[in-house]
Amino acid sequence: MRNLADIIEELLYGEEGYYTKHVRIGKRGDFFTAPHASPIFGYTVGRFLEREGVKTLVEVGGGEGYLALDILSSTGITVLSYERSPRLKEKQEALLSEYRRTGRWKPVDEFVRADAYLLNEVLDAFPSRRFVFKEGRWWEVVERGGEYGLIPSEGPENYRGPVKEGFTYDETVGLGQFLKSVFTHTDRVLIFDYGYDEDEFPLLAPSGTLQGYREHRVFHDLEALKPATDITHFINFSHVKRVAEEGGFEVVLYMDQTNFLLKNGMLDIFEDLPDERKEEIAPGMKTLILLFRNHRTMYLRRRGG
Ligand SMILES: C[S@@+](CC[C@H](N)C(=O)[O-])C[C@H]1O[C@@H](n2cnc3c(N)ncnc32)[C@H](O)[C@@H]1O
Repeated sequence: MRNLADIIEELLYGEEGYYTKHVRIGKRGDFFTAPHASPIFGYTVGRFLEREGVKTLVEVGGGEGYLALDILSSTGITVLSYERSPRLKEKQEALLSEYRRTGRWKPVDEFVRADAYLLNEVLDAFPSRRFVFKEGRWWEVVERGGEYGLIPSEGPENYRGPVKEGFTYDETVGLGQFLKSVFTHTDRVLIFDYGYDEDEFPLLAPSGTLQGYREHRVFHDLEALKPATDITHFINFSHVKRVAEEGGFEVVLYMDQTNFLLKNGMLDIFEDLPDERKEEIAPGMKTLILLFRNHRTMYLRRRGG
């Protein structure tokens, strides 16, 4: 018997896993992320971090390396990349070789001390377990002999929001441990991801948030659990906030990603670009504003730090 997190772990990070063998991000890939939509995302994030006094940054799960590239090219920040996927590590090495030569970028295999940690769409790529509230109690979805079914369960460990009949919740596995480990290496953490607050889940996603992406096609629920597919779910920002507060951090900022970009000078950065770059960047900037509607930004800082 396996829970969904065991299955997702294997499908994403196993020997033949999506992130081990198949991952392709961007127009010709399986899914889009903000750095693939427009470099202005990285320029704006970079400016924010510089204004926060950040000189060294660890980017976790940086994918193909475009966000690191855009921060490196627009600021003086030194970037270290901690990446789980061997295929994406190779892509980062190729894209960022020039910065490696000058000593402003390098890959790392363990968490190291840095002024800030940056996570763009990383927590949603963690495995998740699926819980269903039915007949007044919790059940968990498991697989046995190739069939999916429900077994009685204590319910999700980290969900403290309201429940109603039929409510399905996909719980990120390992998020708390992971963040605690990040907290021992920095005083600042900047997170971009799609997710909700606890009280929003039953209203906005009563049937769960498990999704798969292959060549920009979306597969919902258990249909997502296929090989060569990016499997993902929405993260619980209320849980992230609790873990942060327990770890001695405070939420300094929490808002829509688009709002964050606009408040932190995206349009001024655009205006300051030479005309030919404006033309190149404008369509992607529009995508960034229109397509990333469920994305939020959370910025955590150590209390008194
Ligand atoms: C959805 S992709 C996003 C990639 C990139 N941040 C971007 O925005 O294009 C998820 C990324 O998180 C990485 N990842 C997932 N779990 C990780 C972990 N525990 N440690 C480091 N990287 C991880 C994956 O390998 C992948 O690079």
